[in-house]
Amino acid sequence: MTLLEKEKKVVTITYGCQMSERDAETLTEITRQEGYTSSDDLEDADLVIVNTCCVRESAENKILGKIGDLKKLKEKKPDLKIAISGCMVQQPGALERLQKRAPHVDIWAGTHNLHEFSDLLHRSETGKRVAEIWQEPHQTLESAPLAEKGKLQANVNIMYGCDNFCSYCIVPYVRGRERSRQPQDIIKEIKDLVAAGCKEVTLLGQNVNSYGKDFAPSYDFADLLQEVDQIPELLRIRFITSHPKDLSDKLIETIARGKKLCEHFHLPLQSGSNSILRCMNRHYTREYYLSRVAKIRELLPQATLTTDIIVGFPGESEQDFAETLKMISSVHYSQAFTFMYSKRSGTVAADMPGQIPLDLKKRRLQRLMSVQNEESYQLRQGMIGKCYEILVEGPSKTNPNRLTGRTRGNILVVFDGPPEVTGSLITLRIVEAGSWTLVGEMVP
Ligand code: 5AD
Ligand code: SF4
Repeated sequence: MTLLEKEKKVVTITYGCQMSERDAETLTEITRQEGYTSSDDLEDADLVIVNTCCVRESAENKILGKIGDLKKLKEKKPDLKIAISGCMVQQPGALERLQKRAPHVDIWAGTHNLHEFSDLLHRSETGKRVAEIWQEPHQTLESAPLAEKGKLQANVNIMYGCDNFCSYCIVPYVRGRERSRQPQDIIKEIKDLVAAGCKEVTLLGQNVNSYGKDFAPSYDFADLLQEVDQIPELLRIRFITSHPKDLSDKLIETIARGKKLCEHFHLPLQSGSNSILRCMNRHYTREYYLSRVAKIRELLPQATLTTDIIVGFPGESEQDFAETLKMISSVHYSQAFTFMYSKRSGTVAADMPGQIPLDLKKRRLQRLMSVQNEESYQLRQGMIGKCYEILVEGPSKTNPNRLTGRTRGNILVVFDGPPEVTGSLITLRIVEAGSWTLVGEMVP
């Protein structure tokens, strides 16, 4: 770059799940290879990428608002390039609708062709509007760049897509069928990350428990975990998400035997009612779910469980909802991500009778959250006086004078300590607890 050339800046804004965050990292890395530096300052940006989510209408509305705001920025800065990527763009028929609504956008990219983003950037250089959405994923996933190196924690995709077709969910339509990455590619990626300073990896998949179903000879998620557990200098291994129907005894036993495999299961319940679970196409009953929880508690008494729950699915009666509340009190989740059902066009549930009015969904959500808040509070109170292994992540966002880290069960703790412990495992005794925060002190 000559002195006269201005450094190019990219701002990447991302919405949605960890998969989406991981895609945003790929996009940021591609733009870095194209000479862009990452920035948070929109006023200073030459390129803005909005990586989208469409799992609920509320996410879509937020994103449409953001794309609208960018129009004003582009009026002020006509050379600004705007790119929209991800799940919202990939929805069948969405591109045309979005293009009409946002003619100020320069580049549209779907979920299956993210690794071609540099090509789209070049093609838009002449000021041309570029849109490319592949209907099917091609087998070129390994050509996508890795996440930025040198971070303490990294997300690693082990598979893409989903075959489950839960009746409310848009994900299988925008991320395609399940494809597992080859174990040797995953192991190499993790070893490279560790060589660059990474201490904790989170293995990502819409349903990690069905990893390897497309392989012969057979090799499953438990086999992969055993191999990752052997990687020297890696301190912790996490994974999300576990579909309860595929959570095998072998997997729970593997985690119980593992050294670095963290005892935290994100096990989406969605509903506690058998009839709603059937309509959701979840392929388990509340009894089966509870039997999985019992197996976890038997082999891993210290394990934590978190979950996702939807209220107001079509046809959900007061009795169905009461069954969900009962499950919260039986399982004792450390955290629950709770959502109001959102109608997604093209999914089976969108046409089901018995759609629930918004005000009833809101009331149920409030009741659910207050039951879970009490659970979270009790669980954290029970931790007072006990000692936990913590991986120190660095200064707390809310109080930079303090450090923060997580237990193996993924519970956040803040404490006073020397900054040099960042990146290492230490022991903390819990001295104070609220619903969400824990305060610890270092044990010599
Ligand atoms: N409405 C509400 N919540 C949904 N989820 C997925 N689809 C919908 C929808 N249509 C929730 C599920 C899933 C989480 C990622 O998002 O709980 O586990
Ligand atoms: Fe959606 Fe169900 Fe697949 Fe999860 S398992 S991504 S909820 S279809």
